[in-house]
Amino acid sequence: MTFSRRITNLKESGTLKVLDKVKELQSRGVSIIQLDVGEPDFKTPDNIIRAAEVALKAGFTHYTPSAGIPELREAIANKLRSENGLEVKKENVVITPGSKQALFYAIMALVDEGDEVIIPTPAWTSYVEMVTVAGGLVKPVPSGNGFRLNVEGIKEAVTKRTKLMLVNSPNNPTGYVASRAELKAVADIAMEGRIHVLSDEIYEKLLYEGSHISVGSFPGMDDYAITVNGFSKAYAMTGWRLGYIAASRPIISAVNKLQQHSASCPASFAQKAGVEALKPETPVKPMVEEFKRRQDYICDALKKLRLFRFEKPAGAFYIFPDISDSGMEGARFCEVLLEGGVSTTPGDAFGDHQGNIRISYANSMENLKEAVSRIARALDSLGRH
Ligand SMILES: Cc1ncc(COP(=O)(O)O)c(C=O)c1O
Repeated sequence: MTFSRRITNLKESGTLKVLDKVKELQSRGVSIIQLDVGEPDFKTPDNIIRAAEVALKAGFTHYTPSAGIPELREAIANKLRSENGLEVKKENVVITPGSKQALFYAIMALVDEGDEVIIPTPAWTSYVEMVTVAGGLVKPVPSGNGFRLNVEGIKEAVTKRTKLMLVNSPNNPTGYVASRAELKAVADIAMEGRIHVLSDEIYEKLLYEGSHISVGSFPGMDDYAITVNGFSKAYAMTGWRLGYIAASRPIISAVNKLQQHSASCPASFAQKAGVEALKPETPVKPMVEEFKRRQDYICDALKKLRLFRFEKPAGAFYIFPDISDSGMEGARFCEVLLEGGVSTTPGDAFGDHQGNIRISYANSMENLKEAVSRIARALDSLGRH
């Protein structure tokens, strides 16, 4: 059998590879505390579940318009206007089965063979693989100290073939939150070069300092910003598969065509649940406060182990410490921790970052405490801390 070139060039997801290994160990009865996870461990709030139940019982179980139900498109447009400062109407919004699908549509709609896409790294690898599927070329731009956006590097990476720039703030895997000045600089580069910016804002609500800034909110960005967000992380709704994309009408029309010929539409009752999720009664704040408590704990505890070098990030639920003082690369370091009963993700799953590992604190405080003891023991056994 001969596979298409697209598939031959595609790599397996580094994060899902870790997960497969963990599941295999767990199925053999090995106790592993998962700090590799990319999803909130909280339950989806009750009001959201009730809204889906009501929709299901009322028979709202069929195809919806491909761009999504008008009620949810409207609610999202309102949210983007009032919270994010974007000049959008419901016609600028398409609801998708997860934000990953929205990113995929945007890339497929814009990137041709040989087009270049600038991606600041460390970055979530799915961006890279999506660009590869589209036939595009990734131009990675390593971030500066403390994972600040390397604006000069981004500017220098622009060529005549640059089609798209990617921004992900708060960031996976670093938790870094880009400053207004950095995002303004990216917007200026975009407008000057007439380049689109794909802004992945999925961790928007998981913010512990400052406020969230959408790159599309800068004047003149309406035609260039493509804003992607979703319900997975803010409302603990990873399994519902619900996300969205907001952009200029021509881009939205292209995205909608791709959706019509692939997913058709997102799940009907999940969309009704999405309308409910956006209401003020959804308890997002307690979840964010709990993440903050866990962040404080894990950062203090890891600093005491001394091998982990990092600045406490302002968002998401990850830290991306430099572990090179251990004399090991991230992949080996993660193996040592896994042998000690804690799963983490090697930095090379996020680009050329062999000296780092990603630690997720989307796990209970009790598990985090046990994980820290296990990490300390694993490193003790090597005589490395
Ligand atoms: C940076 C980033 N963007 C997008 C997604 C995808 O989220 P969704 O569940 O909405 O597809 C993830 C999931 O881990 C992510 O980390």
